[in-house]
Amino acid sequence: MGPPRPELLLPLLLLLLLPNAGAQAEDKLPENVNPSCPKATRFKHLRKYVYSYEAESSSGIPGKADSRSITKINCKVELEVPQLCSFVLKTSQCTLKELHGLNLEGKALLKKTKNSEDFAAAMSRHELRLAFPEGKRVFLYPEEEEPKHILNIKRGIVSALLAPPETEEDTQELFLDTVYGNCSTRVVVKTRKGNVATEMSTDRNLQECTGFQPSSTGASPLALIRGLARPLSTLVSSSQSCQYTLDPKRKHVSEAVCREQHLFLPFSYKNKYGMMTQVTQTLKLEDTPKINSRFFGEGALKVGLAFENTKSTFLPKQAEAVLKTLQ
Ligand SMILES: *[C@@H]1O[C@H](CO)[C@@H](O)[C@H](O)[C@H]1NC(C)=O
Repeated sequence: MGPPRPELLLPLLLLLLLPNAGAQAEDKLPENVNPSCPKATRFKHLRKYVYSYEAESSSGIPGKADSRSITKINCKVELEVPQLCSFVLKTSQCTLKELHGLNLEGKALLKKTKNSEDFAAAMSRHELRLAFPEGKRVFLYPEEEEPKHILNIKRGIVSALLAPPETEEDTQELFLDTVYGNCSTRVVVKTRKGNVATEMSTDRNLQECTGFQPSSTGASPLALIRGLARPLSTLVSSSQSCQYTLDPKRKHVSEAVCREQHLFLPFSYKNKYGMMTQVTQTLKLEDTPKINSRFFGEGALKVGLAFENTKSTFLPKQAEAVLKTLQ
């Protein structure tokens, strides 16, 4: 690596000059600062960020109650930062639930699936190392034995954690790396405290992303409802919007809520409305303890953030049944 490029140093200098930046001792510029790593300012090294994660995917034809299918994942997510721009993601205590029935008020009742324990074991078996060497593209270093569908679910978690970089303008179009590839994204700063953005939102039309293939990924960051995927030609719209709450002092993500909606054309002329799939991911920060480990090994395998084509082995029974009713 040659000398740091001046345009990359600028944001760093600005950060140092901000009245807020030197306020707390622990926010001082760390000794192993990497000038090509602007995103690292959101997650301090030698810390661990502990989140509760929930993802719910709901599919169905509006007005057809028996067409409804709901799948829900809950996990504890830990993002360790041994070095700036290098992270270790650990997912544990996961559960997998699906729609069991409706209560008297018509509210959905969810029940743990039979394979929930297997799912939990698969999610916690391997940690996932990741890095943003240039601060733009995300690289994942999964264990070679990590199953593709589990890796895809972890990709969904990583993507929800990636708050956009802080921008000076209140509204900006940026190209950001996501599970659907490179996406043109409208980034809005909704609230600032002093110079620091504390609430931001992102909106994107997923059909404009370079790697958007709902027919192969199942149009879901859960990678679970693959069986419900329709051919690309029947897709009317796919959009995603995320809301981020950021810590006013340390800038890390305190809460992230990402909502995705995929609308499909009616399956046959008898259906008045087509199928709709909604996916909501929520991350809530619970704790930020210090850690001691500075170790980060990249490993042999290096892949991108975009979903990989896979045959899910965790397809809930219900999703299969719903598919049959539709056909
Ligand atoms: C995303 O696409 C834009 C426009 O084509 C391009 O300028 C940018 O470099 C791309 N970003 C990445 C990370 O590939």
